[in-house]
Amino acid sequence: MNLIPVGVLGTGKYVPERILTNQELETMVETNDEWIVSRTGIRERRIAAEGQATSDLCFEASQVALSNAGITADQLDLIIVATITPDMSFPSTACILQEKLGAKKAAAFDLSAACSGFVYGLANAANFIATGTYKYALVIGADCLSKITDYTDRNTCILFGDGAGAVVIGEVPEERGFKSFELGADGTGGPLLKIEGGGSRNPASQNSLDQRLHYIYMAGAEVFKFAVRIMGNAADEALRKAGWEKTDIDLLVPHQANMRIIQSSLNRLELSEDKCMINLDKYGNMSAASIPVALAEASEQGRLNEGDRLILVGFGGGLTWGATALVW
Ligand code: UT7
Repeated sequence: MNLIPVGVLGTGKYVPERILTNQELETMVETNDEWIVSRTGIRERRIAAEGQATSDLCFEASQVALSNAGITADQLDLIIVATITPDMSFPSTACILQEKLGAKKAAAFDLSAACSGFVYGLANAANFIATGTYKYALVIGADCLSKITDYTDRNTCILFGDGAGAVVIGEVPEERGFKSFELGADGTGGPLLKIEGGGSRNPASQNSLDQRLHYIYMAGAEVFKFAVRIMGNAADEALRKAGWEKTDIDLLVPHQANMRIIQSSLNRLELSEDKCMINLDKYGNMSAASIPVALAEASEQGRLNEGDRLILVGFGGGLTWGATALVW
C-alpha cells in the first residue's frame, strides 16, 4: 500500500489572559519564587476564567490553526482532542468543539494519554491521512489543569497551567512531514500520577470530596526519575526509526514539565539550549497543551524553516510517552 506523506499545515495556540505568578503562589502555600524557579524553571502560568472550559480554549487555538492552514472548518474530516480535563465525561470535548467550529463532516473523539496525548493524537490522525481515509485532521492538545489542581498542595499547585495548542495536518510533499512515531505506556506507574475521584471506581460522593480525590495526585520525585529516562529513550527511538542522527536535529520541542527534565534531554541528545523550544517559564506544565503550544510559538517566532528536522517528545500520566520525528 502506498502511504500518503503527512505533515503539519498550520498551527495555533491559545492561553487564558489571567496570569498566576510565583509571588502570588507565595501567598497561597508555603513556597517561594526562588524554590520554584530553581527546582522547575517556572515563573508564571495561565489560569482559565470561571466558566471557561477546555473546549473554549480549543476553539480559540483551532481558529488560528485553521486560518494558518488556509482551510475552513467544514473541510475537516477528523477532530481529535487530547485532554485529561474534558468539559464533561461525555459528550467528548471533540464533539463539543465540532459543533462550535461548525465542522459538520468531521468525526470527533477525545484521547486520554495525559501529557503525551498530543503526540498520541498526531500518530492516530496521521495514520488516517497516510492511508487515504481522511484528507484533513485537526489535532489539539488542551488542558485546564487549574480546574483539577489542589491549591493547598504545594507539591503540585506550583507546576500547572491552562492552555490549548492545535495543528491541522494533511498531505505534504514526500520529503516533508512525519518520519517516525514512538509511542509507549507503562501502566505499572499509573498510581504515580492520577485523579482517583469521579470515575467508575470512585464515583463522586461526599466521601470522595472529603478525601480530595478530584484533584491531581502526583509522586513528583518518582515521576521525575521516569521522565529523565523516558524522554531520552523516546527521542532516541524516534531518531532511530527515522534514520536520523542526533546531529540532524534542528529543533527539539519537548513537553514542558520541568527545566531540569528538559536539560537532561538536551544533555542526552547532545543539543545546546538554542536548539530547544522552552516556554515553561511563562506557562508551567499545561499537560497535553505543552508541546503544541510550544510548536505554535516556534512558528510564530519564525523559528521553523521549511526542511527543518524537529523532534517532539513528551511523557505523562499512565505512565505514557510519545515522540515523533518531523520535517517541517
Ligand atoms: O507532566 C508530567 C507531570 N509531572 C512532572 O513532570 C513532575 C516531575 N517532578 C518534578 O518536576 C519534581 O519532582 C518537583 C518539581 C515536583 C519536585 O522537585 P524535587 O526536586 O523532586 O523535590 P522533592 O519532591 O524531592 O522535594 C524536596 C523538598 C521537600 O522538602 P523536604 O521533605 O526535603 O523537607 C518538599 O517538601 O522540597 C519541598 N517542596 C517545596 N518547597 C517549597 C515541595 N514543593 C515545594 C514548594 N515550595 N512548592
